[in-house]
Amino acid sequence: MKSSVYDCVILPLSKIHNRAGNITIIEGETYIPFPVKRIYYLYDIPGGEARGGHAHKELFQLIVAASGSFDVLLDDGQNKKIVTLNRPDYGLMIVPGIWRELFEFSSGAICLVLASQKYDEGDYIREHEDFIKFKE
Ligand code: TYD
Repeated sequence: MKSSVYDCVILPLSKIHNRAGNITIIEGETYIPFPVKRIYYLYDIPGGEARGGHAHKELFQLIVAASGSFDVLLDDGQNKKIVTLNRPDYGLMIVPGIWRELFEFSSGAICLVLASQKYDEGDYIREHEDFIKFKE
C-alpha cells in the first residue's frame, strides 16, 4: 500500500453565507472524490482524550471540525504530519492506508466524519505493528 500522508489533503468545502448564518454542503463524488456511504460524529469528548489510533485498508474519509477544533496526526509508516482542523468549511481527506490519531479536542468539539464504506471491523488495522507490515 503506497499511500502517503501527502495524499491526505485539506479540501475547501462550499459555504453559503447570509445574515442568518452559514450552510456548508458536501455531496459525495461531486464536492469530494468518493461516494458517501456512512456519516458519524464524535462529540462529548472529555478533555485530554484521544481517538483513532488505527488505520483503514480501503476506507476513504473526510474529517470536518463541525464545531470547535482538534488535531489529527497522520502517519504513513515513513512520514508523519499533524493537521489542525478548526473550521467547518474545510475537510481533511484521509486516504486508505494511513494511521491516524485525533487529539487536543477543544471543549464542545464535534468531529464529523464522512466515510466511503459502511462500518466493517475487517477494514481496520488496530495495531501499529500490523500497520507497518501492511505498508511494506
Ligand atoms: P472506533 O472507530 O474505534 O473509534 P475512534 O476511531 O473514534 O476512536 O469506533 C469505536 C467503537 O464504535 C468501536 O467499538 C466500533 C464502533 N463503531 C461502529 O459500530 N460503527 C461505526 O461506524 C464506527 C465508526 C464505530
